[in-house]
Amino acid sequence: MRELIRSLVETYGPSGAEEQIRATIRAEVESFADEVRVDPLGSLVVRKQGSGEGKRIVLAAHMDEVGVMVTYVDEKGFARFTHIGGVSPLTCIGARVAFADGRVGVVGLEEKREDTSKVPKFEQLYIDVGATGRDDCPVHVGDAAVFVRPFVAQGTRLIAKAMDDRIGCAVLIETLRRLERTPHDVYFVFSVQEETTLSGARTSTYSIEPDLAIAVDVTGTGDTPECHPMAVELGKGPAVKVQDRGMIAHPSVRDLLVQRAKEAGIPYQLEVLERGTTDAAAMQLVRAGVPSGCLSIPCRYIHSPSEMVDEGDVENSVRLLLEVLRAA
Ligand code: CO
Ligand code: ZN
Repeated sequence: MRELIRSLVETYGPSGAEEQIRATIRAEVESFADEVRVDPLGSLVVRKQGSGEGKRIVLAAHMDEVGVMVTYVDEKGFARFTHIGGVSPLTCIGARVAFADGRVGVVGLEEKREDTSKVPKFEQLYIDVGATGRDDCPVHVGDAAVFVRPFVAQGTRLIAKAMDDRIGCAVLIETLRRLERTPHDVYFVFSVQEETTLSGARTSTYSIEPDLAIAVDVTGTGDTPECHPMAVELGKGPAVKVQDRGMIAHPSVRDLLVQRAKEAGIPYQLEVLERGTTDAAAMQLVRAGVPSGCLSIPCRYIHSPSEMVDEGDVENSVRLLLEVLRAA
């Protein structure tokens, strides 16, 4: 699975510009699917036909990643920018970003600031692509870029940009590949624009009309120095969401995940996340309501260029989803 994860995290795909990552994922799933389609907003929907005795189930992971977007290019060719999704100015300092064509920019910080002890604002940062002026600057207003950082596997820890949520995409792809027989009609949704509006999962779920939906995404941990207390740790198993800022997981979905984990002896944790949400929050509000929950992969340093997950948690997420799909 490592090579699959490497190829997913190193592909470009900020919210709203998911063409490249969609093509990468499509190539990985096509031969295992009964149907592959692209929804009007760009989400990739991959259907695996069940034997007919089960439910219609959506498993959703988002393809998009956080990034930055050029707002203005000055006469010297330096680009000002805003953020796509939740990005802190702190994580931008010293970073390199890459545009859709692979062109790389360095994030610079204005030297003359009133109080240099304060966290800088986005207005005080700029992207330097090495241009000599506005006219020869190859990047333009509206161009999007993502952070660049190589994938690293160290022991059981995997480190990369865009683990949020390419690790969820990898879990879905691997689940599809290993899924042999299932009573359920399973729709693997690789959604667009989760980081900005949750719009891809919302609209795909509307068209599918599922009986049940599970988002597979990352969640924070409480196992780093002086962090916000949270009962989730790296390497202790996938986390079954109870609640986050956007939703309370449907009890039936939460209990299904817990029950199947217990039966199969798969380690799991319970997640109460006090910041952020996932596609599940949007999916549960589609049509008359869809019982929805979330299987979360514990992840340190979310929305930074170096997000860290544990390989064991990733493998156990695949195992747990297969248990969910195994029986009606
Ligand atoms: Co995110
Ligand atoms: Zn995410």
